[in-house]
Amino acid sequence: MERSLTMEIARVTEAAAQSSARWMGRGKKNEADDAATSAMRDVFDTIPMQGTVVIGEGEIDEAPMLYIGEKLGTGSGPKVDIAVDPLEGTSIVAQGTWNALAVIAIADENKLLHAPDMYMKKIAVGPESVGKIDINASVKDNLAAVATARNKAVEDLVVIVLNRPRHAELIEEIREAGARIKLIPDGDVAAAMNTAFDDTGVDILMGIGGAPEGVLSAVAMKCLGGEIQGKLMPSNDEEVSRCQRMGIDDMDKVFYMDDFCGGDDAIFAATGVTDGELLQGVQFKGMKATTQTVVMRAKSGTIRFIDGEHSLKKKPNLVIQPK
Ligand code: FBP
Repeated sequence: MERSLTMEIARVTEAAAQSSARWMGRGKKNEADDAATSAMRDVFDTIPMQGTVVIGEGEIDEAPMLYIGEKLGTGSGPKVDIAVDPLEGTSIVAQGTWNALAVIAIADENKLLHAPDMYMKKIAVGPESVGKIDINASVKDNLAAVATARNKAVEDLVVIVLNRPRHAELIEEIREAGARIKLIPDGDVAAAMNTAFDDTGVDILMGIGGAPEGVLSAVAMKCLGGEIQGKLMPSNDEEVSRCQRMGIDDMDKVFYMDDFCGGDDAIFAATGVTDGELLQGVQFKGMKATTQTVVMRAKSGTIRFIDGEHSLKKKPNLVIQPK
């Protein structure tokens, strides 16, 4: 893959974040999502590449934009798989809370898992704990392994978990093991990434979230030197057939890093829409907007945090007036 694509995809997430951030706190998650999606699409079409969306906003007849199979880019240049979540955390923006991101991952053609849009059980850790976790092991054993790897007591660990009724048993098991818990309302891509940065105070992600978010998180973890494992959780026969149509027959299959994203290269970019532990959200002042983006490449291991200052005078398309 061309190195220059790293900067190009950062431009895409910056545009999506600026557009959706205008909807912060307005209680309108669909509008926030639509704004991110159209901004993303507009910028994508200026990038010299032959991209195919493999994780998108929905299947072809469900979403007008950025659907699975859609071709993006100018039509010349490298052939790449694209995973997008124009707005990861639609409710977060609607409420103006923490950790909404505009996210893109790209890899060489046929290297990204084509995960169906359903739930996935996940466990993710940062670099120190790589190779120590096992999604099929007990919560207690995983926490003991991570504690040893991080040279901490289990009681010192922080487990990040989506605050959902389906996690009642998981939460009980974590408490019994003695670890601390950070419950979050949404946004398990940011949560997975947080495990790879000591400053966030988070040691491990556990629980069930979206499978597409699992693929995006895996590319981030590949760039960060961390690890995620996942298991699809189809909830009915229709979802089982959907997995089968995508070539997944074993519903107990564990997806490891290479299953999520093969090869040695991949690029990941995320721009903060609202403030989070890693990235500040978009701020506006008059005809200026500021953004914070992390853009990373697996092959080189380079992680860049980019502060952007954008002139809305020169980019009037980003001056959005939400109603
Ligand atoms: P959206 O941006 O699509 O709303 O996703 C937010 C999110 O919290 C993801 O981070 C997570 O993987 C998923 O929703 C969990 O799904 P659910 O809200 O159904 O529990």
